[in-house]
Amino acid sequence: MGYKVAVVGATGNVGREILDILAERAFPADEVVALASSRSLGQEVSFGDKILKVKTLDTYDFSDTDICLMSAGGETSKEWSPRIGSQGCVVIDNSSAFRYDADVPLIVPEVNADAVVGFSKRNIIANPNCSTAQLVVALKPLHEAATIKRVVVSTYQSVSGAGKDAMDELFSQTRAVFTAGEVVTKKFTKRIAFNVIPHIDVFMEDGYTKEEWKMVAETKKMLDPKIKLTATAVRVPVFIGHAESVNVEFERPISPEQATEILRAAPGVLVIDKRENGGYMTPHEAAGEDATYISRIREDATVENGLNFWCVSDNLRKGAALNAVQIAEVLVNRKLLNKAKQAA
Ligand SMILES: NC(=O)c1ccc[n+]([C@@H]2O[C@H](COP(=O)([O-])OP(=O)(O)OC[C@H]3O[C@@H](n4cnc5c(N)ncnc54)[C@H](OP(=O)(O)O)[C@@H]3O)[C@@H](O)[C@H]2O)c1
Repeated sequence: MGYKVAVVGATGNVGREILDILAERAFPADEVVALASSRSLGQEVSFGDKILKVKTLDTYDFSDTDICLMSAGGETSKEWSPRIGSQGCVVIDNSSAFRYDADVPLIVPEVNADAVVGFSKRNIIANPNCSTAQLVVALKPLHEAATIKRVVVSTYQSVSGAGKDAMDELFSQTRAVFTAGEVVTKKFTKRIAFNVIPHIDVFMEDGYTKEEWKMVAETKKMLDPKIKLTATAVRVPVFIGHAESVNVEFERPISPEQATEILRAAPGVLVIDKRENGGYMTPHEAAGEDATYISRIREDATVENGLNFWCVSDNLRKGAALNAVQIAEVLVNRKLLNKAKQAA
């Protein structure tokens, strides 16, 4: 027997990718329902070789739906996820609304799949921030090998991380620059075309942005609360694919060769590190791919037991849609969905 799956935010960047990935991975669904706001009623989205007509979230009854893959923003999730969960449908939420709730597991399957069982308290599972997801996939095997003390990370995040309107803004600003037209800025705080912006999400009292805070809080929740992490999150004029420059200090010695060997064997990771022109991964090449790519692994000789590396992944896939579908697969493989229905 297959499952009934609802995709909320099916017209968005992440929702469309979720539909593609469900089809690609032949997720055991008998029925997939595409949901969005009333603005999108009747719009069509593709699901494998099928076309789905979009229905509205407001009027949809979740009582016979097994899984809801939610990517419609934090406010929509706060309003809807608890209601959907109370009907016995397990919500896998891409927003930050429930990530820091002690009763909601925050999951990257390669890192902490076993924590998924905690979903039964609220029938909600949170998907991490896109920049955290790829980071912890790389950090987990290294932490197991040599125990991470401290991480310093700078991100180079693509505009698709800010939704479909942000992608349109990069496109229209780029065209305006070439045609000497007016560069209109709505979604970002400054022009993004041919520029970089050291500001993602809102500012917090200590001067960090919420995006930077999320990387700290989520790494601690999923990997180890003892890890010290500091981040600088930067938006760059790339459509898809986030990159990160990562500096790690370990408790125990670990050479670049050992780290390379460990990362090569790690789930979800591909090492591309040739130390020659082009022998590394870039966001453009990672777009559409599932792996977290690691390049430029080298010693940081300025600290004891230090390494630097470069980490690239498709933010819409491992950073959001793929990770959400992988969590759904964990629920299916561990036969946890029927229990959720019975408990409701
Ligand atoms: N993009 C990423 O890399 C990434 C990574 C991790 C997490 N996320 C999170 O995933 C969520 C979606 O991001 P996105 O990039 O896909 O955004 P997006 O491209 O702007 O799409 C937003 C989607 O949400 C729907 N929506 C908005 N308000 C709604 C409402 N009141 N009721 C029902 N549906 C509503 C929209 O439907 P309409 O078309 O009808 O307006 C659209 O389908 C956000 O919470 C984001 O933080 C994104």
